Amino acid sequence: MIKSDYLIIGSGIAGLKLALKVAQTATVSLITKKKLSDSCTQKAQGGIACVIDKSDTFQEHIQDTLTSGAGLCNKDMVTKMVNEAPDRLNELIKLGVNFTKKENNQEEFDLGLEGGHSKRRILHTRDLTGKEIENCLITNILKNKNITIFENHTAIDLIINKDNICLGAYVFANKQNSIETFQAKITALACGGAGKTYLYTSNPDISTGDGIAMAYRVGADIANMEFVQFHPTCLYRENTNFFLISEAVRGEGAILRLKDGSQFMHKYSQKKELAPRDIVARAIDNELKTRKENYVYLDITSKNKNFLIKRFPNIYTKCLEYGIDMEKDMIPVTPAAHFFCGGVKIDVNGRTNIKNLYALGETACSGIHGANRLASNSLLEAIVYADRVYKDSLKFLNKKHYDLPSFSCQYKISKESSFIHMQECEEVRHISWNYLNISRSNENLIKAKKKINTLTNKVNTLFENSPITIENIELRNITCIADLIVNSAIQRKESRGLHYNINYPTMLPVAKDTIINIKDSLV
Ligand code: SIN
Repeated sequence: MIKSDYLIIGSGIAGLKLALKVAQTATVSLITKKKLSDSCTQKAQGGIACVIDKSDTFQEHIQDTLTSGAGLCNKDMVTKMVNEAPDRLNELIKLGVNFTKKENNQEEFDLGLEGGHSKRRILHTRDLTGKEIENCLITNILKNKNITIFENHTAIDLIINKDNICLGAYVFANKQNSIETFQAKITALACGGAGKTYLYTSNPDISTGDGIAMAYRVGADIANMEFVQFHPTCLYRENTNFFLISEAVRGEGAILRLKDGSQFMHKYSQKKELAPRDIVARAIDNELKTRKENYVYLDITSKNKNFLIKRFPNIYTKCLEYGIDMEKDMIPVTPAAHFFCGGVKIDVNGRTNIKNLYALGETACSGIHGANRLASNSLLEAIVYADRVYKDSLKFLNKKHYDLPSFSCQYKISKESSFIHMQECEEVRHISWNYLNISRSNENLIKAKKKINTLTNKVNTLFENSPITIENIELRNITCIADLIVNSAIQRKESRGLHYNINYPTMLPVAKDTIINIKDSLV
């Protein structure tokens, strides 16, 4: 058994930032499924939104977030996040994160623009912001003696006692092929999102909704899972995962065009290419369905090579690998699953409804993103909540560890290489992609529900009877996520933000969260 004050699950910006804060006064076990650097943060291109420019105001950032969120944001929390942003950003800078400065003035940050923002306010490190942040946080983590890192460790289930208090987690040590018990006074879920529930996603393979699924199984409230954000512009390639083409490219003037070269965004929003993400993704989806095509084009040929290489070195290189020269060629793009606005419901301090269990980052639903997240607000939300969880959880530190409930191991272990249920994985991803995509209908939701119910029974039986592998843990989790999405989508009898149902095309006058709890489905 491994005992520490904190158990932090996940090594993206939320988990690492929280670990650094709490390790000032406490011991931390930090577990991560693969290597420390394998996270969604690592892939983030855009940046962190923060009011810095003299012409910008907190009020405008708050209003842009609320407008993008389509009436469902928690205004109080949005205000707190925007006001706290400069302090949290300064902490990152002090730790060593190098945000790009203006070429002609090294005293000032080069602020980017993205959809839904009325001002330039995105701090970025060219188009490799996530990598810069992740590397810097890891450098600091490795120096900290209070943090013990467990790479190649996959959490299976949370440990809850009869008083509904979280005591840690049962964890699969991938390399040793063994189950470990991690005991902690405070457990924090910072496991990122669940893009891999879908066939095509901008997310890395690790994004399988583990935090949300584990929390759901022990009775945490799960909120707003119908709001799955599709990033409008992922590089289209047949039958492969889609590479993200940052919204910042549109911020620098890229135009969306149909195959015949004509523009179309003016038909959908006055803000055209810089409309909030839900509007742009839905517009592309509509054009593609009308024309029975797979992609539209993103055209940034108005910029020269020098600018493109400096501002977007990562995207420029990736496109070239596929034979696309951004200076001369238009980029084929299509929407793909990108970010979950819903997740484990948390309060203003990151607490869930399970005692001593916190959630933060994409795993959590704080209410900040409402029905559609504003671009570059997610890394910001993560650092704001790392600070809030840290401050709130300190009060539990002087308590003793609770006794663990007796463990009767229901997990099977096999030394043989075990069978991976690939077919079921593909099935979940196809169902989500085909029926829980950008445009939904009652008929498709009902079809999806039937298919996911059948699959859930099969996957749970397989899980109980097969040896534990990382793939089997992930299969159970993505199936759970698909189930949460479909049940949430069925409950919402309107279209709002990212959730568009052709049978309820309008928005209801009163905005409500969708809350799902496993205990309700058991009665
Ligand atoms: C992007 O660079 O377009 C992604 C940024 C985000 O998801 O906020």
